[in-house]
Amino acid sequence: MPLHSKHLLGLDGMSREDLQLILDTAVSFREVLERPIKKVPPLQGKTVANMFFENSTRTRLSFELAERRLSADVLGFVATGSSVSKGETLKDTARNIEAMKVDMVVMRHSAAGASHYLSRVIDANVINAGDGSHEHPTQGLLDMYTIREKHGRLNDLHVCIVGDISHSRVARSNIFGLKTMGARVSVCGPATMIPREIDRLGVDVYHHLDDVLPTVDVLNVLRIQLERDAGRLFPTIREYRQTFGITRRRLEKAGRVMTIMHPGPINRDVEISADVADSEHSVILQQVLNGVAVRMSVLYLLSTRN
Ligand code: CP
Repeated sequence: MPLHSKHLLGLDGMSREDLQLILDTAVSFREVLERPIKKVPPLQGKTVANMFFENSTRTRLSFELAERRLSADVLGFVATGSSVSKGETLKDTARNIEAMKVDMVVMRHSAAGASHYLSRVIDANVINAGDGSHEHPTQGLLDMYTIREKHGRLNDLHVCIVGDISHSRVARSNIFGLKTMGARVSVCGPATMIPREIDRLGVDVYHHLDDVLPTVDVLNVLRIQLERDAGRLFPTIREYRQTFGITRRRLEKAGRVMTIMHPGPINRDVEISADVADSEHSVILQQVLNGVAVRMSVLYLLSTRN
């Protein structure tokens, strides 16, 4: 059964069937990653270009590995050192790359909506690897996969996303995907970091961790994005850490065992203490591993639509 869309631009509006198909298909690819030879042929003869206009470690390497595990030919593009510095537009850059007979484009860009725009100006399948503060759909999918792997289901779980919700494409993709799959989603953070109309997305809003933690099954801790001026939204890092930092003491006070997630990169001892990040309840590195399987699933399913 193919996906309903030729592109993966976001999880907003994606059907339960499509989300389920991606997660279920990822289970087979996750098994491939445990084999001695971690390579399968579905994308043999296909070429995938990874266009990264913004910094990335996990997403860029994970996509590249997923593409190679599926036997695709891989083109890497980073804006630094490219003709973007000579003034070439996104449209011209993408169309020149596509002219080299590229079948799929994975793009990260600092502008919200950049991948929607790209999908209108090229014929290749477009996968959004994070666009500004808008969406990061494969992060949302790998988070859902990891939660389902750990808890056996998504429906009726309480997932709380803590931190800078306003700037977070990870939060938005998680909210859209998890709500569609029947999870209860709440957000917690200072009022300056939570969009005023977030409750329209069907999430519960908290401003005090102690009010929400006693009912949480999964805590997804967001990075304080200092590069996006998030530091102006609270007085000091010390105050943020004291009020919203996830520490062992705070979790013990909640009296509940919960799964700890973080999309990375981590600011250790700012939004999450080092001992919690490395604790037995943390699935942060499982998220990274599952990201490869989920991206293999997305690439494979989109390739079958060509
Ligand atoms: N989670 C995530 O998007 O990490 P990178 O910015 O390193 O890709």
